[in-house]
Amino acid sequence: MSAIDFTSQNDCFTLANGVKIPCIGYGTWQTAPGQTADCVKTAIRAGYTHIDTAWVYGNEPEVGEGIRASGVKRDELFVTTKHWVTERGRQKTAAAIDVSLKNLGLDYIDLYLVHWPCVEKISPDWKEINAETWRGFEDACKAGKLRAVGVSNYQAKHLNALFDMCSVKPMVNQLEFHPGYTQWENIRFAQENGMLAEAWSPLGSGAVLKDARLTEIAAKYGKSVAQLCVRFALECGVLPLPKSTNPERIRANLDVFDFSLTEEDKSELLHFPALGFSGFLPEDAPADAIA
Ligand code: A2P
Repeated sequence: MSAIDFTSQNDCFTLANGVKIPCIGYGTWQTAPGQTADCVKTAIRAGYTHIDTAWVYGNEPEVGEGIRASGVKRDELFVTTKHWVTERGRQKTAAAIDVSLKNLGLDYIDLYLVHWPCVEKISPDWKEINAETWRGFEDACKAGKLRAVGVSNYQAKHLNALFDMCSVKPMVNQLEFHPGYTQWENIRFAQENGMLAEAWSPLGSGAVLKDARLTEIAAKYGKSVAQLCVRFALECGVLPLPKSTNPERIRANLDVFDFSLTEEDKSELLHFPALGFSGFLPEDAPADAIA
């Protein structure tokens, strides 16, 4: 089934190891602790079965709380979290996974991602460091703690180095992706290598939503710009992870299965003038700078 044929958020992409992943995830980056548990509960009750968090967001315990409060069974949900840059290395990774499991109150994680690659600017041994971290991921897979594993913010050179040094290939690459910043070469590289590309900030963290041209395109379909962006990601085979703290917008961001984009509009969104880029690039080691 291709993304264009999806009829609800419960339809799934299939990862390289056969694991099914619901095609829209609820993003929790920049949702404050204190707010996250309620938002996650609201999102699950609105129909999301896929939640995306990260250790560094500081809200894993509340994501777990929201999941429990939703009343939905664990095996009906898909939970992603991410490894942080301070925990690189095989042993530290093993410990980091246990911390995330404890924070979430879960006994397995559906998808665990390396949040940012180690890059040359950080260490000349970046390839070996990334491979050692990845071995920690492979160990935890074997131990049944992780159902699927992947990376985030990896460029082709980081992935090629990992492919050369490890046995299990990452199944996902989560990248910033929205009209105005699609980094299409990285998306295509992931897809050509059998990985699912996911979109963080599919709405440009809100920065693309007032654009006049996007508003005009969305209006043609009777949709909001946010819905246009979510649909655009899906039609590119990219799994969107929209974030909202507002119950109405949480629901609205799932209402994207009753329209499809013309080839012209899709092409315009793919080649849209630069807009809403976060400024985060792996080579600038942004994550290490704030660690
Ligand atoms: P809010 O949480 O107040 O709804 P991204 O998913 O790219 O990170 O973007 C998240 C930002 O977009 C947040 O500021 C969020 O604000 C806003 N947002 C999310 N959904 C919508 C929507 N349907 N309409 C307008 N703004 C939205």
